[in-house]
Amino acid sequence: MRKALERIEPYSPGKPIEEVQRELGIREVIKLASNENPLGPSPKAIEAALSALRRVSFYPDSRGHDLKDAIARRYGLSPENVCLGNGADEIIRMLAEAFLEEGDIVLSVEPTFTQYKFAADLMGQSYMSVPLIDMQFDIDGLKDAITSRTKLIFISNPNNPTGSILRGDQLATLISFIPETALLVLDEAYADYVTDKDFQSGSRYVGPASAAPNVVVVRTFSKLYGLAGLRVGYCLGHSRIIAALERVRSPFNVNLVAQAAAIAALDDHEHVERTIALNESGKSFLYREFERLGLDYVPTEANFILVRLGARAREVCQHLLRVGVIIRSAHIFGLNEYARITIGTAGENKRLVSALEDVLPAVYGGNRREWQSLKNAL
Ligand SMILES: Cc1ncc(COP(=O)(O)O)c(C=O)c1O
Repeated sequence: MRKALERIEPYSPGKPIEEVQRELGIREVIKLASNENPLGPSPKAIEAALSALRRVSFYPDSRGHDLKDAIARRYGLSPENVCLGNGADEIIRMLAEAFLEEGDIVLSVEPTFTQYKFAADLMGQSYMSVPLIDMQFDIDGLKDAITSRTKLIFISNPNNPTGSILRGDQLATLISFIPETALLVLDEAYADYVTDKDFQSGSRYVGPASAAPNVVVVRTFSKLYGLAGLRVGYCLGHSRIIAALERVRSPFNVNLVAQAAAIAALDDHEHVERTIALNESGKSFLYREFERLGLDYVPTEANFILVRLGARAREVCQHLLRVGVIIRSAHIFGLNEYARITIGTAGENKRLVSALEDVLPAVYGGNRREWQSLKNAL
């Protein structure tokens, strides 16, 4: 094994529903742990996938011509500005493989998506992170942290696990700091859920007229389009960056069924609108209920909410699991008192709240102050 791999722990995902059913013998399990689409896949995508299944004796189109075309059209770009990945995860790995050299530094924030550090570790290079301030991006901190050795700067926008965003003006400022020797990677896995008018997608900086050739935008079909199980992601960038990624891409990285489903999903506007509306109403419901329970949360622009469950947050997660509610303890992000909860369907959200009503007093022995926010406890 390479020495660099000693630093890497295998990825630990949110527990799958089937595993909880098997281990605990519970039938009714809900998963609010991996920010998947609670409405399921786009019906148009399912239809296209079923029809594509008949052709799986053939290899997929290695270049993903039709899907790249559809994505490029969506952004007014050319297919040379698009690279496809087996999920956004693979794009992050490909960026590391294509760009990191000895002595390079990967920069991001803390807490954030764990795969950025993985990218640095995989290539045996250093990782640095700038702490968020009050769960928000610290632009000055990022500026101060950039050096001539910084090669990849990963910003999850909105940020996983906080749901906070980099506003358009902050993005422009950040871009103005990025040296020519570095790439700014804007991971917009959750961008479609944003309602804040001050948000701007980094895609406006990609393209022939762009003044920022070192901006890469990463997107996925796993969230809004409900295709997490098919594994399709992509990135947008200058054709020179995309050409470098194409050199490290494995030949048939996005399978034939996934390509067909993703093309169909892009056009399923009704499913997209329903998903966003459900997320908005679920968000309002959960904000209200968390406030009623005295739980602090971070206002979110994504499809999940970071909630403070107190010093025994991990125990609370374990108890919830036992009653068939899977959420994500945020200790993996270094936030020991928090959990990240995906916004579900109305029924799932209600079930979560009623489980919390039982579990919180059980874990804290009725001492509400231990989990309740300061403003409610006083
Ligand atoms: C910020 C962020 N980027 C990328 C991904 C990976 O997405 P994909 O399923 O496309 O690999 C996730 C998944 O949770 C994520 O939270």
